[in-house]
Amino acid sequence: MPKTPLVDPTPPPADVAADWEHELSAFGPDPNGPAPAPTAPAAPAESTGPLATARAALERLSTWVPIRSLARRHRHRMIEHLLSLEPRDRYLRFGYPASDEQIRKYALGIDFGRDEVLGIFNRRLKLVALAHLAYSEPALGEPTRTMAEFGVSVLQQSRGRGLGRRLFEAAALHARNRGIDTLFIHALSENRTMLRIAAGAGALVERDGGESAAWLRLPPDTMGSQVEQALERHLGELDFQFKRQAQVLSGFVDGVAEVKAHFESSGRAAKE
Ligand SMILES: CC(C)(COP(=O)(O)OP(=O)(O)OC[C@H]1O[C@@H](n2cnc3c(N)ncnc32)[C@H](O)[C@@H]1OP(=O)(O)O)[C@@H](O)C(=O)NCCC(=O)NCCS
Repeated sequence: MPKTPLVDPTPPPADVAADWEHELSAFGPDPNGPAPAPTAPAAPAESTGPLATARAALERLSTWVPIRSLARRHRHRMIEHLLSLEPRDRYLRFGYPASDEQIRKYALGIDFGRDEVLGIFNRRLKLVALAHLAYSEPALGEPTRTMAEFGVSVLQQSRGRGLGRRLFEAAALHARNRGIDTLFIHALSENRTMLRIAAGAGALVERDGGESAAWLRLPPDTMGSQVEQALERHLGELDFQFKRQAQVLSGFVDGVAEVKAHFESSGRAAKE
C-alpha cells in the first residue's frame, strides 16, 4: 500500500493558489478559510410551512453547484482528469494503483449508452470533479433488486468544498429516477471522506478489513425527483455554455489587446 499522505502538505505556488481561489470561489466559501465575522443571532426559524420551504430552496440555491451529464465526446477530458490524479488518489479511486494505461482503458470502456457520467467544470472548463454511475444487471436470485455502483474523484485543489457530496447526491437522484433501488459504493476502509459522504446520506456501511462496502437504499422516483433532475440538467448545460462563451470572449479580448499592442509598438518604432 503506498505511503503517500492523503493530502499533499506542499502548498502550491502563490500565483497558482490565487488562480485556484478565483476559480473555486464559484463553488462557495473555502471551509478552511478564515471564519466569517460573527453576526447577530437569527430569529428562531419556522421548521414547516411555505416560509421554511422557500428558505430551504434558497439555501439549496446558494450552495448550488453546476453538474453536467457527460457524453462520449468528453472522454478526452475525463482521461485528462483521471490522469492528473496523484498515485495515492488513483489507488483510492480504483482500489489499485492504476497506471496511465489502465486509466485510459477504463475511460474508453465506459458504456455511455448504459451508464451515467457526471462532471463539474471550473470557469476555464477544466473538469475538476468526475463521477461514474455504473448500472448493473440484477443479481442472480435477486431479479427484483436493481443496483448502480458509484465512483468519484475530485481534483486535489477543489476538495473540501462539497463537490464530492454534491456528485453523490446527483448520482443518487439519477439512479432513483432510473428505477434503481440501491446505490453501491466500494471503498477502501481508510477512505474516510468517501465513507463519510455515503454514511451522511444514510448508507449502510459494512467494513471488511481493508475494504468497505456501502449500500444506500433509494426511494422510488416521484414527479418532484424527475423535475429536479431535469432542472439540474438544464442549469448545468446553461452554466457550461455560459462558461464557454465567456472563454471565447476572453480569447477575443486577448486577441484584440495583442493586435493593439503590436500596432502600438510598430507605431513607436516608425516614429523613432
Ligand atoms: C473522496 C473525494 C471524492 C471527496 O471529495 P470532496 O469534494 O473533497 O468531498 P466533500 O468536500 O464533499 O466532503 C465530503 C465530507 O467529507 C469530509 N472530509 C473531507 N476531507 C476529509 C478527511 N480527510 N477526512 C475525513 N473527512 C473528510 C467533509 O468534511 C465532508 O463532510 P461533511 O459534509 O459532513 O462536512 C475526494 O477526496 C477524492 O477525489 N479522493 C480520491 C478518489 C477517491 O477516494 N474516490 C472515492 C472512491 S470511489
